[in-house]
Amino acid sequence: MLSEVLLVSAPGKVILHGEHAVVHGKVALAVSLNLRTFLRLQPHSNGKVDLSLPNIGIKRAWDVARLQSLDTSFLEQGDVTTPTSEQVEKLKEVAGLPDDCAVTERLAVLAFLYLYLSICRKQRWPKEDLELINKWAFQGERMIHGNPSGVDNAVSTWGGALRYHQGKISSLKRSPALQILLTNTKVPRNTRALVAGVRNRLLKFPEIVAPLLTSIDAISLECERVLGEMGEAPAPEQYVVLEELIDMNQHHLNALGVGHASLDQLCQVTRARGLHSKLTGAGGGGCGITLLKPGLEQPEVEATKQALTSCGFDCLETSIGAPGVSIHSATSLDSRVQQALDGL
Ligand code: PMV
Repeated sequence: MLSEVLLVSAPGKVILHGEHAVVHGKVALAVSLNLRTFLRLQPHSNGKVDLSLPNIGIKRAWDVARLQSLDTSFLEQGDVTTPTSEQVEKLKEVAGLPDDCAVTERLAVLAFLYLYLSICRKQRWPKEDLELINKWAFQGERMIHGNPSGVDNAVSTWGGALRYHQGKISSLKRSPALQILLTNTKVPRNTRALVAGVRNRLLKFPEIVAPLLTSIDAISLECERVLGEMGEAPAPEQYVVLEELIDMNQHHLNALGVGHASLDQLCQVTRARGLHSKLTGAGGGGCGITLLKPGLEQPEVEATKQALTSCGFDCLETSIGAPGVSIHSATSLDSRVQQALDGL
């Protein structure tokens, strides 16, 4: 396998409804996006193999002979999702990371190497391998959130549209290909602190906050029902319902204390153009989504994107429901992706 180029991609994702409530045992709906992150492992005639992760600015080179001679039996011992410290030491030796390497880069490269040696040498991934990827992505989430629900890693691994409830995942059967704007307010936020803030508010005002979480749960269920209906027979009224659900959830999230002035601005700018938005994910800044209803003229979409960009936000137009983590053939990628992989 090291004689061939390995190309892997994973989709971006958003939570449509149920962020924060999902941490308290309620339903969340999450969808993958047609915006992907790529990595490439490319062998060269000089006996080296290059790892390129352009989205996080990482490039490394290893000796093919050294990787091939590596005894990987150590990976078969014990629980594959929690490598022992000896396994980590061996991986570090192979990775040959310089001492001044940033912690995030170190972890990304070690996690890649571990997964590569365990499963990437295959051409296709059976369900068990995808489960392993999902578990590793969950460990990555734990480092950022502390105690994540697991919804984010699941949707990026499996793709499509997922319902997530108390660790149980099911795919939405027929979900429509909705167009959305994904806007990054660029306001940094701390997911761990925001999740803790909601928990504190729930403890302080249980009679007020518990019904909000129950209502968010009902919004997720109603959205799931409408998406199912739209998958069978789409009608304009269903978009009106989706918009109302977005507005109600955004108000609830504000009441939970995870709003931000930048997100209010995002909602106002899109509302002035008849479009409905809500925060997605932890809130407190970060990203918001805007539903683009069918029939909206492209100049109007462009004007909205422009208005959001003028606020200092990054705005991308995309659709929901992309495939999960995937292996690609070297020839199947469009030239912009090739350039990004080459361009580091
Ligand atoms: O901000 P994100 O995309 O990492 O999403 C966080 C979602 C929460 O519901 C707030 C936390 C979780 O673990 O589900």
